[in-house]
Amino acid sequence: MSYFTHLDCSSGCGAGPFDPRERHFLCPSCGLPLLARYDLKAARAWKKETLAGREPNMWRYREMMPLLPGDVPITLGEGFTPLLHAKRLGGALGLERLFIKDESLNPTNSFKARGQSAAVTRAKALGATTIALPSAGNAGNAAAAYSAAAGLKCEVFLPRDAKQPFIDECRLYGARVTLVDGLITDAGKLTAETGKPLGWYDVSTMKEPYRVEGKKTMGYELAEQFGWTLPDWIVYPTGGGTGLIGMWKAFAEMEAIGWLSSGQRPKMVTVQAEGCAPIVRAFEQGAERAATWENAHTAADGLRVPRAIGDFLILKAIRESGGTAVAVSDATMVQDMLAIGSLEGVSAAPEGGAALSAIRHLVTTGRIKPHETVVLFNTGGAMKYFDVLR
Ligand SMILES: Cc1ncc(COP(=O)(O)O)c(C=O)c1O
Repeated sequence: MSYFTHLDCSSGCGAGPFDPRERHFLCPSCGLPLLARYDLKAARAWKKETLAGREPNMWRYREMMPLLPGDVPITLGEGFTPLLHAKRLGGALGLERLFIKDESLNPTNSFKARGQSAAVTRAKALGATTIALPSAGNAGNAAAAYSAAAGLKCEVFLPRDAKQPFIDECRLYGARVTLVDGLITDAGKLTAETGKPLGWYDVSTMKEPYRVEGKKTMGYELAEQFGWTLPDWIVYPTGGGTGLIGMWKAFAEMEAIGWLSSGQRPKMVTVQAEGCAPIVRAFEQGAERAATWENAHTAADGLRVPRAIGDFLILKAIRESGGTAVAVSDATMVQDMLAIGSLEGVSAAPEGGAALSAIRHLVTTGRIKPHETVVLFNTGGAMKYFDVLR
C-alpha cells in the first residue's frame, strides 16, 4: 500500500492537483516539472521497522512510491546498492569517512535503473504501449531493459556520437535506436516531434514525474544504511539532476513522516564537467535558472546536458543545503576513474571519477574537513566507457 495521492507543480505556480490515474507530463500552466505527492500525515503511521525482512531493492520503500491500488512494480532488482567505506581512497585524500555509493551494481550498470523502474511501472499502469526518450546512453539502456521486462516497445534517441556499447545494449533489449545529429537536447526535440502524434509515452528527464521518484530512493537508502542519520556531504555528478532533486525530496519526506529530524540534511554538491557546466555557472552567478551551455563537450556523456529543465530545483537544493557546485576537467575525471578502480576495486564511469575530482578540490581548498562524512556517488560503471581510458 502506498500513500501516493496526486501530482502538483514543482514551481509553486499553484497548478494542480493532478490525477495520477491520467497521463501527465509538464505542468500545463507553466511548463515546468510536476512532482508526485503523498499523504504525509497518514504516512506517519508507516514505521521504519517494517523494512526489516523486505527485499533489498528500491521497492522496499513502496509506501512512498508512486503506486496505486493494483499496480505491480516492474523490477529487475534495482537499488539497495552497496555503501562502501572507501578507506584506501579516503586515506589518500586525508578523509576518515569517505563512502562510495556504488550505483554501478544496478541492472544495466547505472543509477538510471531506479528512475526507469518507476517510470515504466507508471507507464504500464497508464496503458502505454511504447516508451520513448532521448538519452546520453545509460538512461536509454535502462529504459530499454525495463520496457522489455514490461512487454512494452522502446524508442531510444541517442546523439550520433554515442558510444557503441550504449547503442548495442539498447538493441540487446529489443529497443529501436535512432541516432540524432547534435546533443541530447536535439535528441529530446526529435523524440517529442516523432512520438507525440504516435502516442508514445515520453520518459525524458524531469518531463515525466516518476523517474525522480525512483531516484529519490537513493536518499531513503543512504538514511537506512547510515542507521537513520545522513552524511555531511553528498557529491553528485549532475546532468539533468534527477537524483539530486530526488534525494532532496526524500529528505523532506522522511522529515515529514518523522524518520529524520530536521537539521540533519547533508550539503549537496553538484559536479559538472568544465566543458558543460550550466548549473555551476548559474550557482556562481547567483541565478535561479541556468542558461543553455553552448558547444557542450566532455568525455562524461551523462554530464553533456547543456540545459536542464529542473535547473531551478537543483539550484534550490544546493543553496538550501549550504552546498556548492564544482566543475572539473576531463583529464582529472579520467585519472580519478583510475584512482577509484585501483584503490577501491570499484568500476567507475567518468561521472564517478568527476565526483572524486570534486571531492579532491573541496578537501584541498579546506571546504571539506578531514573528520566529515562524505558520500561519493558512483552513478555508473566503467565498462561502457573503456574507450576514454584507452
Ligand atoms: C553515469 C551517469 N552519471 C550521471 C548522469 C547524470 O544524471 P542526471 O541527468 O540524472 O543528472 C548520467 C546521465 O546520463 C549518467 O549516465
